[in-house]
Amino acid sequence: MLIKQRSWVIFLLQVMLVVSSICLAWLLRFEFCFKNPKPLLLAIPVLVLIRVIAMARFNLYHGYWRYTGLSDAADIFKAVAIGSAVFFIVLRWVFGVTAFPLSVYLLEAMLTGIALGGVRVLSRAVTQAIERHQHDAGKKTTLVVGVGAAGVLLESALQQSNYTLTGFVDDDRRKVGVNVRGVPVLGTINDLPQLVRAYRVDEVLIAIPSATGKQMQRIVDYCTKSGARFRTIPSVSELVDGRVTVGQLREVNLDDLLGRDPIRLDVSRICEQLKDRVVLVTGAAGSIGSELCRQIVKYKPAKLVCVDQAETPLFYVQLQLTKLGSPAERICYHVADITDSDRMRAIIADYGVTAIFHAAAYKHVPLMEENLSEALKNNVFGLVDLLNVAQECGCKDFLLISSDKAVNPSSFMGCTKRLGELILAARQKSGMRCVSVRFGNVLGSQGSVIPEFQEQIRNDRQITVTHPDITRYFMTIPEAAALVLQGFAVGEPGDILVLDMGEPVRIVDLARSLIKMSGMKEDGVKIVYTGLRPGEKLFEELFYSSEKQTPTIVDKVWRTRSRMLSWPELQQGLDRIRVASSTSDEELIRSRETLIKSFSAFHSVIV
Ligand SMILES: NC(=O)c1ccc[n+]([C@@H]2O[C@H](COP(=O)([O-])OP(=O)(O)OC[C@H]3O[C@@H](n4cnc5c(N)ncnc54)[C@H](O)[C@@H]3O)[C@@H](O)[C@H]2O)c1
Repeated sequence: MLIKQRSWVIFLLQVMLVVSSICLAWLLRFEFCFKNPKPLLLAIPVLVLIRVIAMARFNLYHGYWRYTGLSDAADIFKAVAIGSAVFFIVLRWVFGVTAFPLSVYLLEAMLTGIALGGVRVLSRAVTQAIERHQHDAGKKTTLVVGVGAAGVLLESALQQSNYTLTGFVDDDRRKVGVNVRGVPVLGTINDLPQLVRAYRVDEVLIAIPSATGKQMQRIVDYCTKSGARFRTIPSVSELVDGRVTVGQLREVNLDDLLGRDPIRLDVSRICEQLKDRVVLVTGAAGSIGSELCRQIVKYKPAKLVCVDQAETPLFYVQLQLTKLGSPAERICYHVADITDSDRMRAIIADYGVTAIFHAAAYKHVPLMEENLSEALKNNVFGLVDLLNVAQECGCKDFLLISSDKAVNPSSFMGCTKRLGELILAARQKSGMRCVSVRFGNVLGSQGSVIPEFQEQIRNDRQITVTHPDITRYFMTIPEAAALVLQGFAVGEPGDILVLDMGEPVRIVDLARSLIKMSGMKEDGVKIVYTGLRPGEKLFEELFYSSEKQTPTIVDKVWRTRSRMLSWPELQQGLDRIRVASSTSDEELIRSRETLIKSFSAFHSVIV
């Protein structure tokens, strides 16, 4: 309503300026003598009509004059020039008024142009003075990126805050120049640096909760160039009830830069599988295991048994789960080594465990290249022993966390993960549902590149990347854990499920994003390339080329189909490896190639 009223005022004011200009031109021409004003009286309505149409055509009714710039000057010039030409033709040849002096046409055009421009310049000067005053009065000037629903909600929220909203920016060029709830869309995201400078903006607020990682990276690029502080409203998945408040504004984090579509979980199906059951998580103190525990507990299992061999990290998981208000009587914590079958048998049998999430493993590629027998002991034989114990104790479901490193493995660790998948697939007739879930890197897990890069930026002002072209798939830990639970709910015996990881990310781009987020200029931190490490690949794959990918009933979880080995076939090969691995690591390293080949029975399936 208010905006409508304002538009009318602007319209009438400009009409008045046009009428005043023609009268003044007439008076100037006749030296302020109003003799024979008939041609003038006829010309005024014709001119007003033409000018009104021309001004509408050149978008001169928007009214946010405090932002007047060169583009408005150009629009005024065009509107006046074209309007005057039409006015001349219509008055002279349509109405046949020849007594209208040529000098008045010219003078009127000049005066109208000056009046339309002048009123804008004046308005701009006044409002800027007011804004400066507000600025000095402690209010922060801000620009909002995004004129979508979230941007408009944020605009409302800012009204009761310590911010003065100067304008919006949006990449949709059709919106540029438009007035949204009285606030102008000043330009596109590319214009941010200039706009920040021109309007002395203190902070840029990003209001695109559905922005993809690429879009967010671009916005952050321009925000960084502008030199202003920037924050964002939470992503769609974090927004509660779709409400936007100033309190929700937060720093842009790495998840935003790698932004992925929010996942839709079939919660009822997961609930069906976990509610009132006794669930055991191995590797419960690790990045993935601990997140699994945090999520599983929400589905109200009868008991959650957390197992890990690392005592202090398990203690912290206990502290955290307690802090989150998880019911203590339903969770127990056991320091135990999964390769110790007696200990695991005692735990599984005592609690009557019916579902196991196996996340305990050694995972560091270069380290495992030098500790082959330990990798085999933990990731392969530990798994087989645990499966045997679980089956013996009547466990119904077993899920193995696998990794994209299991696909065409170039590392020993990857081989052990692939063996794990094959072992689970081969046990489909065991009476226990065995499912593997394969996915790529998770952001911020223990020992991952991100904390390492952050430390390098802080301490060394240089980042070491192994190769300029190295890429990895990335997911957040909560997302991976949620999809693992979803996979658990829909997996069929022997399934190898693969999580949709989106697009792979170049590690060097990730490093650059971290540099920007740390508030430094990109050239302020050196990137040093150190070369691929033993067993490391340039890019990871999620599927073998021979694997058929079929969708499951849930989004982002794929099922693979390929030739698998029978358990007796696999067991034979495993026995041979068990004998080979009883030698020392040095000998194993020397015979690494022979060892991989000695997986003879399943060589074609593993490498
Ligand atoms: N982190 C990633 O990016 C990622 C991606 C895909 C798959 N994975 C797989 O997920 C699994 C877990 O990864 P993570 O990142 O949570 O690793 P992590 O190192 O954070 O956690 C592993 C946990 O397992 C425990 N553990 C290891 N051996 C054990 C044993 N014998 N007995 C008891 N506990 C033992 C460790 O103490 C540790 O707490 C690994 O198999 C890994 O290959 C990880």
